Amino acid sequence: MIFSRILLSFLFIFNCFSYSPPFNFDEEIHWNWNDIDTSKLVFPKNFLWGVGTSEYQVSGRENCPNANWAFHEDKKNFFGCTTIARGEKSGKACDHWNLYKKDIELMQEVGVNAYRFSIEWSCIEPKEGEFNEQAIKHYHDLIDALLAKKIQPMITLHHFTHPQWFEEKGAFEKSDNIQYFVRFCKRMFVEYSSKINFWLTINEPGVLVFQGYHRAVYPPQKNNFHLAGIVTKNLMKAHIEVYKALKALPDGDKAQIGIVHDIVQFEPYFKGDKLAKFILHYMNLIFHEAITDFLVTKKLNFKIPIFANVEFELADKNEKILDFIGLNYYSHVLWKPTNPLGSSYREGDIPTDMPYGIYAEGFYRAIASVARMGVPIYITENGLADSKDDRREIFLKKYLYTLSKAINDGYDIRGYFYWSLIDNFEWDYGFEKRYGLYEVDYNTFERKQRKSAQYYIKVLKDYFSSLN
Ligand code: BGC
Repeated sequence: MIFSRILLSFLFIFNCFSYSPPFNFDEEIHWNWNDIDTSKLVFPKNFLWGVGTSEYQVSGRENCPNANWAFHEDKKNFFGCTTIARGEKSGKACDHWNLYKKDIELMQEVGVNAYRFSIEWSCIEPKEGEFNEQAIKHYHDLIDALLAKKIQPMITLHHFTHPQWFEEKGAFEKSDNIQYFVRFCKRMFVEYSSKINFWLTINEPGVLVFQGYHRAVYPPQKNNFHLAGIVTKNLMKAHIEVYKALKALPDGDKAQIGIVHDIVQFEPYFKGDKLAKFILHYMNLIFHEAITDFLVTKKLNFKIPIFANVEFELADKNEKILDFIGLNYYSHVLWKPTNPLGSSYREGDIPTDMPYGIYAEGFYRAIASVARMGVPIYITENGLADSKDDRREIFLKKYLYTLSKAINDGYDIRGYFYWSLIDNFEWDYGFEKRYGLYEVDYNTFERKQRKSAQYYIKVLKDYFSSLN
C-alpha cells in the first residue's frame, strides 16, 4: 500500500511537468441562485417519488450477522485504528428489520409512492447454497405491506454488503464467483417478480471499488489499482449476467432492470492546476468515469500508468444491458494541493456534514452525463447529512429545482428517491452522519420527523394534487 502510494506520488510529480491529460474534463458550472425561483417546479405524470434505505444500514449487524460488514466492523485499518469511526458498531442500527411497519407509516406521512430498499443477501443465503425461508418470507411481508399502501417497491440486490462466505471466496475479485451472485438474484426474482417492477442489480460499483480497493475503508481494505480494475470489470460482468438471466425468466420481459451509478466530480480547486487535474483524472476514472463510459460505449478502459491495465469489451455494441439507469448524486469534491486528503470549499459554498458542500449544478452535469446511456433515468439517491437540520431545506430547494429544470430541458427522468427515510449507519463514518427525513434515537429506536421533511412533503402534496 505504502509502496504504491509513493510510486504514485512520483508519477504525479513527473506528470506535472510532462503530462497532457487525455481526458474530457467536463467543466465546473455555477448558476446565479439569486436569479432563480426554486419554487417553480414541474414534474411529469407517473413520476415516482420515493425514499431509499439499504438493509445493512438500517438493520445493522445484529439483524445481518452473516454479512461481510458484520466481520469488517471488528477489524482494524492499516494504521491500527478501528474501521468504523469512534469504534462504533452497527448493532441493530434502526432495527428496520423489525420496525418496517412503523417505517411504512412514516413513508405514508411523507406521501411517497415508491420505496427503494435492498435485499440482504447474507440473510437470504447465510451459508453457501442454503436459503433461509424465514428471511425470504420477511421480504414477502415487507413487499406486501408496501403494496397494500400503494407504495411501489424498488429492489437493490447488492448494496455494498454480501455474505461472509462470498467474501472469503474472494467476492468480485474472481470472475468465477459471479455465478453465486447470479444464483441469488435469480432466486429472488422467482420469489418476488410477480410483485416487483423495478430491480437494481448493484449499488454504486465505482464506490465499492474506490472505498474497498483504493481508500481501503470498506472490505476488503485493499489498496491495489490493478485489482480495482479487475473488480470493476467483474462487477460490470455480474450486472450483465444478472440482467440476462432475469430477462430470460418468466416476467423478465416485463421487469425494469437497471444498475445504480454514483457520480462525484473530483475537480481542481484552482482551475488550470495541472497536478490536480492529473490526480483527479484517476480519481474520476476509478470512481465513476470508467463505468459511465462502459455503460455508454460497452467498452471498459480501466488504465492507470504502471498500476492498472484492464480492458473489457462487449462483442455486440448494440446489446441491451440496461432498461434504466439509477443515478445517485450528492456533490463534487474540490481538491487543492495544500489539503490533499480533504475537500475544499469555495467562498459562499454551503457545507454539509460530509466533506463536501451543496452543489446542485453538479447534479445537472451528472444527469447530462448518464443521459448518454440512452435509457430512462431514476434518481435513486440524493440527500445530505445535516445533523442540525439547518441546511436540508435549502438543499432540497436547489436539487429539486435542478431536477425539474433537467426534466424541462428534455432529460428523461422518471423518479426521485430522497436518501434517506431515516438516519442510519453510514458505513465507515458510523452513526454521526444524519441523512434522515426522520431523526432516529439509536437507544430507543424512536423516529422523529425533522422540520425540513416538511418541504419534501409539500412538494409531493403539490405534485399529487396537481394531477387531479
Ligand atoms: C450509498 C449509501 C450512503 C450514501 C450517503 C451512497 O454512496 O449508496 O449507502 O449512505 O451514499 O453517503
